[in-house]
Amino acid sequence: MKTITKICCIGAGYVGGPTMSVIANKCPEIQVTVVDINKDRIDQWNTENLDTLPIYEPGLKEIVAESRGKNLFFSTDVDTAIDEAQMIFISVNTPTKTYGKGKGQAADLKYIELCARNIAKVAKDDKIVVEKSTLPVRTAQAIQNILENTGNDVHFEILSNPEFLAEGTAIEDLLHADRVLIGGNDTPSGQEAKDALSAVYEHWLPKERILQTNVWSSELSKLVANAFLAQRVSSINTISALCEKTDANVQEISRAIGFDSRIGPKFLNASVGFGGSCFQKDILNLVYIARSYGLNEVADYWEQVIIANDYQKRRFAGKIISTLYNTVSGKKIVLYGWAFKKDTNDTRESPAIAIADALLEEHAELLVYDPKVKEDRIYADLDYLGTRSPEENRRLLKVTSDPIVATKEAHAIALLTEWDEFTAYDWQKIYDQMLKPAFVFDGRRILDTALMNEIGFNYYKIGE
Ligand code: NAD
Ligand code: UGA
Repeated sequence: MKTITKICCIGAGYVGGPTMSVIANKCPEIQVTVVDINKDRIDQWNTENLDTLPIYEPGLKEIVAESRGKNLFFSTDVDTAIDEAQMIFISVNTPTKTYGKGKGQAADLKYIELCARNIAKVAKDDKIVVEKSTLPVRTAQAIQNILENTGNDVHFEILSNPEFLAEGTAIEDLLHADRVLIGGNDTPSGQEAKDALSAVYEHWLPKERILQTNVWSSELSKLVANAFLAQRVSSINTISALCEKTDANVQEISRAIGFDSRIGPKFLNASVGFGGSCFQKDILNLVYIARSYGLNEVADYWEQVIIANDYQKRRFAGKIISTLYNTVSGKKIVLYGWAFKKDTNDTRESPAIAIADALLEEHAELLVYDPKVKEDRIYADLDYLGTRSPEENRRLLKVTSDPIVATKEAHAIALLTEWDEFTAYDWQKIYDQMLKPAFVFDGRRILDTALMNEIGFNYYKIGE
């Protein structure tokens, strides 16, 4: 079997950074170099102060501290890293296309193609190329075509090895992965490549959890896993709306159905809607692929997961407006949380963005607090929507670093991310300084209903 001693990973983002840090940490004899064209990002990965790494993940800085400079390197020298490695991971972004054919649905594969062309240009000896990014089924074919037409006699073996980590728990998920999926060709060289990659993971994971499939099953499994997960959230969120009409309690329902071992208890928390860089993009991609094969019923079925999610975000914003006597114009509303979930500084597709936008459309005055998201990011997220001018966004929305002072004379608080610290606040003190009646809209169901009512809040909890 081919022994791997040098790995290169193209893309130092939320997946490339943590995944390669763990591989380096668990495989001291393998040199791992993570490269990126974004110099700022690489500089941040190389920063002395580990509190300013480009992404926040619990446990990440400790692992980086142990391995960086020993067998873990971050660099902008993409070509040298490709040249030296036997195994190259492609972990670049694959966003939804914003132009041309498939606009708004298909995955934009331009970054993937650039990587393939770069590898084809630089490689002088045989390489195993690993798709780590989430890709539409049959992308490996396109990568193979690009790599095979270089005429330099190098053999490339393409593997699909999608990543299943979730942000906020990335390190735990990598260290204790439920499974690792490796898709590859059913040929002797394909098998050798799959085994070589499997051996990397076997440094810390039991072999039974490393699944080998054909390339297409592996590529498609990733989209399907995200679609199933998002479907659970949309399913329970639609039920949360029904609960609010019928005095049923969504948490009691989650518990009741989750006890059925065929359903299981996880991923049944009703919320203000799912966010994150992948659920929406991957489902849209699945929908696009299904439609491109003429499978309209299949496409319609999965598209409904997105439609339900958009509805949930709209519904929450609408609830705030209708409860505040049908007008929020000039009213001060404090938003607790901007990240798409707790324990991450990532805001991609965060429900907070859509909710803030809807409230700003009604001329609310917003004050945003998030423990990990920087002010620039919040404004960039809003400006990107293009709903109003950047000046208007800055006039109507302010970012604060003091969540308690922020509530002074506020009409309402909307809780949009489930950060643990929100449950520990002195809610009596917050109540005392708010305008009365004081409203709290809990889009994450993390506060204690009895306590909130006892203090005197008009407390709305999604799903009851
Ligand atoms: P990201 O945007 O955080 O990072 C991607 C990096 O790739 C960027 O730093 C970018 O500069 C770099 N890049 C782009 N083109 C390049 C090129 N030609 N050469 C060198 N560097 C290049 O993205 P991410 O969140 O890490 O996601 C990467 C992939 O992993 C996506 O396909 C995503 O769907 C998938 N994924 C993401 C997660 C997650 O939690 N974020 C989980 C599983 C899978
Ligand atoms: C998700 C998947 O969980 C990962 O397996 C996958 O690798 C990743 O997408 C990806 O491909 O990018 P992530 O988006 O980081 O991970 O976070 P999740 O924990 O899945 O949460 C996604 C969204 O759903 C968040 O906004 C979260 O608040 C919401 N959610 C999740 C709920 O509203 N209710 C739940 O019960 C669970």
